[in-house]
Amino acid sequence: MRAVHCLNGPNLNLLGSREPELYGSATLASIEARLAAACESRGLALHFRQSNHEGDLITWVQDAGLAGEPIILNAGAYTHTSIALRDAIKGANAKVIEVHLSNIHAREGFRHHSHISPVAQGVIFGFGALSYSLALEACIALATASES
Ligand code: DQA
Repeated sequence: MRAVHCLNGPNLNLLGSREPELYGSATLASIEARLAAACESRGLALHFRQSNHEGDLITWVQDAGLAGEPIILNAGAYTHTSIALRDAIKGANAKVIEVHLSNIHAREGFRHHSHISPVAQGVIFGFGALSYSLALEACIALATASES
């Protein structure tokens, strides 16, 4: 594994000011900086992106999947609605770790179902910005295991 993708869906550009009681005070830029430092220390490239548009996420998932590069994916509300994103993961054989800042199972019922989880390698949620760092560790461990 030479590169890791971290893809972020709608409204995650607002982190820091968006409902801090749910999502914490870390901005997306600070999460990116933390992941970039962790990747650099391991000789990995990080492709960190955010979009409010479903089609962008689908294209990025396809590209990373077809390149054989793992994805840390916080699809935001598309987690709960997007069959197209699920199909992109499956169709491109993308290796995805699903992440959420909040504990989606402690929230409204419509957040309890994820279209991503059945096609993800694993899911990490409820640890705020730390969810992303834990997902990176999982990515590295899975890649190391599959290479040896
Ligand atoms: C989220 C949880 C989703 O339900 C919500 O729509 C988001 C953020 C999280 O990181 O906790 O936008 O993915």
